[in-house]
Formats: sequence, C-alpha cells, structure tokens
Amino acid sequence: MQVLSQPPKKIEHYEIASYGTLVAFAKILGHDDVAALLEETLAEEKDADLKLTDAAYNSINLDAAGEDESAGQA
Ligand SMILES: [Fe+2]
Repeated sequence: MQVLSQPPKKIEHYEIASYGTLVAFAKILGHDDVAALLEETLAEEKDADLKLTDAAYNSINLDAAGEDESAGQA
C-alpha cells in the first residue's frame, strides 16, 4: 500500500516523463550537450522515485498503517 508517498511519486513520474521528452527533443535538434545534461537530471528523478518507493515499503506507509490502527482503538 502506497498511501502517503503517492503524491510525491506522481510528481516524480511527471518529471521523468517531461525530462525524457526533453532529452528526445534535444537529440532530434542536435543539441547533444543539452541532452547529456537533461539525461543527468532524468537519472536523478528516477533515483528519487526509487527512494520514494523504498521509503513507502519500508517506513512511511508502515507508520501510517500503525497510526490508523491506534486511532481506531480509543
Ligand atoms: Fe523530482
């Protein structure tokens, strides 16, 4: 279950799609130097997405699930 990390992951996915598109445009236009910089940023966005996924499975959502359970036990 990825509840709390979903909005940040959506943002990362939009960024990945955007930078991926920009890399393609830069290559088509022959701006390989720009494409290389954009590819670095694209890799950073993919890494951020993996970190958010890892956090969701290992911490954030487990904490949220625990809070939900304790909230119902008054
Ligand atoms: Fe990002």
